[in-house]
Amino acid sequence: MENLNGKTAVITGGASGIGLAMAHRFGAAGMNLVIGDIEVPAMESAVTELTASGYQVVSLQVDVRDIEQQRELERIAIEAFGNIHVLCNNAGVGAGGPVADPDNLEVWRWTIDIDLWGVIYGCKVFLPAMIAHGEPCHVVNTASMAGHGSAPFMGAYSVAKYGVVALSETLTKEMQIAGNDVGVSVLCPAFVATGIAKSDRNMPDDLSCCTGQHPSIRGDAVND
Ligand SMILES: NC(=O)c1ccc[n+]([C@@H]2O[C@H](COP(=O)([O-])OP(=O)(O)OC[C@H]3O[C@@H](n4cnc5c(N)ncnc54)[C@H](O)[C@@H]3O)[C@@H](O)[C@H]2O)c1
Repeated sequence: MENLNGKTAVITGGASGIGLAMAHRFGAAGMNLVIGDIEVPAMESAVTELTASGYQVVSLQVDVRDIEQQRELERIAIEAFGNIHVLCNNAGVGAGGPVADPDNLEVWRWTIDIDLWGVIYGCKVFLPAMIAHGEPCHVVNTASMAGHGSAPFMGAYSVAKYGVVALSETLTKEMQIAGNDVGVSVLCPAFVATGIAKSDRNMPDDLSCCTGQHPSIRGDAVND
């Protein structure tokens, strides 16, 4: 995409960290912003901050694990701004635990549901209309360096992020074959100082007793 001014970007996980930084960059480029995030206080503060910078913003509490909530995000985005041009499937959590531990199964499911299924749902929900309107578009899927190499105790995270890399490579080829004007990027950061190490703040209550994280990758071990 050459010209972002007046176009619309949807960013999941846009209330903090990398997603909020994307929102600031897109807002500064003149884009309308649509933020979907599960964490309401952080989202309210992000919207206040972005609005104060003069950007056009709408937001919705969304759990990316729920495809109906992603459909609602698309609906309010189109209602507010019309066509969507940039989709950032960025919401994610860092969790997992040892592969051989039978007690962290639900933490694995939660991690993969957000980090992989959240991105798959985002593509399924938003792409049909983005392709149909025919204007230049771009999809940015946030994976990680963990999508190119795996580390101990972060198996669920790596499984999901490898999946996001594969999904993005596949989508790139499919858009090229179809001749659609939809670019695809997969973002693979190394460590960035965000709230990722405190991902369990958004964990359902029945899982928070067993994050499954090894002390070496827990936020308190990293930051303290
Ligand atoms: N920070 C890093 O070092 C790093 C490195 C590589 C990849 N990443 C990836 O970057 C992305 C953004 O993470 P970040 O580092 O900015 O962390 P962050 O915790 O600051 O931001 C993640 C955002 O996602 C939201 N979120 C979590 N679960 C959600 C759900 N179920 N539905 C909707 N929103 C949800 C959170 O509320 C938060 O606003 C993630 O996909 C993460 O895996 C981060």
